Amino acid sequence: MSTLTFTARASADPSKTKTRCAIVAVFGSELSATATALDNAGALSNTLKLGDFQGKPGQTHLLPGIGNAERVMLLGCGDRARFSHATAREAFQGLSAALNASNVTEALLHTADLLSDAVDGAWLLELVARTLTVSSYRYTRTVSKPKDPLALKKLVVNPGKGLPAKRAQAALDNGAALGRGINYTRELGNLPGNICTPSYLASEARKLSRGNSKVRTQVLEEKKMRELGMGSLLSVSAGSDEPAKLIVIEYRGGKSGAAPQVLVGKGITFDSGGISIKPGAKMDEMKYDMCGAASVLGTLQAVIDMALPLNVTGIIAAAENMPSGRATKPGDVVKSMSGTTIEVLNTDAEGRLVLCDALTFASRFKPAAVIDIATLTGACVVALGSHASAVYANDDALAEQLLSAGTDSHDRGWRMPLWDDYRKQLNSNFADLANIGGPEGGSVTAACFLATFAENYPWAHLDIAGSAWNSSPKGATGRPVAMLTRYLQGRATD
Ligand code: BES
Ligand code: MN
Ligand code: ZN
Repeated sequence: MSTLTFTARASADPSKTKTRCAIVAVFGSELSATATALDNAGALSNTLKLGDFQGKPGQTHLLPGIGNAERVMLLGCGDRARFSHATAREAFQGLSAALNASNVTEALLHTADLLSDAVDGAWLLELVARTLTVSSYRYTRTVSKPKDPLALKKLVVNPGKGLPAKRAQAALDNGAALGRGINYTRELGNLPGNICTPSYLASEARKLSRGNSKVRTQVLEEKKMRELGMGSLLSVSAGSDEPAKLIVIEYRGGKSGAAPQVLVGKGITFDSGGISIKPGAKMDEMKYDMCGAASVLGTLQAVIDMALPLNVTGIIAAAENMPSGRATKPGDVVKSMSGTTIEVLNTDAEGRLVLCDALTFASRFKPAAVIDIATLTGACVVALGSHASAVYANDDALAEQLLSAGTDSHDRGWRMPLWDDYRKQLNSNFADLANIGGPEGGSVTAACFLATFAENYPWAHLDIAGSAWNSSPKGATGRPVAMLTRYLQGRATD
C-alpha cells in the first residue's frame, strides 16, 4: 500500500526552498504570485508566451530546475475569477496524473495562490491529500507484474499565511485518512470471490480492532444467527459451502452512552443469483456485491484513523449466494428475526434478505441513526447510472445530512421516494411480504422492503449498485466512503 506522506510547512520565500519539484498555480495565461516569484529568468512566462501551456484546469507542464527547485511543475487552474471547488478537483486530478507519470519522489505544492472566498484552505488541503492518496492505489494482490507504484513519497504543502500550520497539517492528515479508507474499500471490492469470502471479511474486521482499545469486533456464526431467528439471512447462505458471518465492529470514540451511528453493509462476497441463477455474461462482476460491506470497513478505518469523537457501529451481513441441493428455492417461505415471514420469489433478490435481519439486529444498539449501504438492484443502475448513489430515508433530516455530505465530498447521492404506493407491489399470498416487487421501480420496491424492518429508528438506505464500481476499466470506486465519512465528521461536531 501507499507510503505517501503529507507535510504542511510554511515558507515565506518560495524561491529559497529546496525541493525536487515546486508545483505552482497558473490561472489561464496569468502566473500566480508564487509562480511569478520563481520566474526570475523568465522561464515560466516564456512558456506561456510560446503557447506551450494554457493554464487550463488540470493541465500540467514540467520544466527543468529554477533556483532551489530541481524542477517546476505548472499547474493549470483556469480563469482565476472562476476558480471553484469543481476546478480545484480538476486541477488536482491533473496533478495526480502528472505525478503518476513522473519520477518525482518529493514535491512542494504552493497552495496560498488558490485560496478565495469560494475555496477554503483546509478544504483544499484535505482534497489534495485525498486525491493523491487515491491516485496512488494499485491492485497488486493477484498479479505477477503489477503497474509501477507512484514514485512520489512525500508531498510538502506550503499553505501560505492564511492557514496556521497546525490546521493545515490536520487537513492533510484527514484527507490522507479518507484516501486510505477509500483505497481499502477498493481493495476489498477488487479481491476475487475465492479470496474475499465472508470469513475473510470477518478477519479484516478483526484487524480494525487489533491493538486499539476503542474498537471491538465480534463475529456471529451461523449457529448464533439461528438462535437469534435470522432465518432470512441464513436462507441466502444455505446453498453455499462458505458459512455466513454477521460482523459487528464497535468504535467508541465518543462519550460512553452516546447513541451510536450505525452503518450496515451488504456483504455478498459472490452473487450467482442462487437457484434463480444469473446469466453468464459479466457474472464475474458479482464479486463486487460486497462493496456495501467494504464501504463500512473503509469508513470505519478512516474514522478510527481520524479519531473522530463519536460512536460508530458497523454491522456487516456477509454471505455467498450459490445454487446447490441445499439452496433456498423460489417459492420457499422464510422467517426473519423480526417475525415477518418472507416469500422468496427470486433467490437473486438476496441483498434485502440478509439486510432485513441485520436491520432488526441494529435496534439492539439503540442507534442515533442507521444507514445501510448495498449494491442492491440493477434497477438503480438503470435509474441513476454511476454518478449518484440512490438515497432513501424515513427521516428528512438524515436524508439532508447525507445529501449535503455527498455534495461537499463530491460523492453524491440523489433522494428517491419511499411512498406506500410502492409497498403494495410486495404483497404475497403465502407470506407477510414477497422479496420482489415486479419489474417497475425495482430500486424503490427493494428499499420499501427494507423500510419495513427499519421502523424503530431514523434510517437511510444507499443503493450503490451503480456508484460502487466501474465496468471499464473494471474496478471498485471506494464509494460512498467519502460521503459517509463526511457525514460522520458532521455528526462529531453536532
Ligand atoms: N447484486 C444484485 C444487484 C446488482 C445488479 C448490482 C447489477 C449491480 C449490478 C442483486 O442482488 C440482484 O441480483 N438484484 C436483482 C433483483 C431482482 C431479482 C428483483 C436485480 O437487480 O436484477
Ligand atoms: Mn442478487
Ligand atoms: Zn446481490
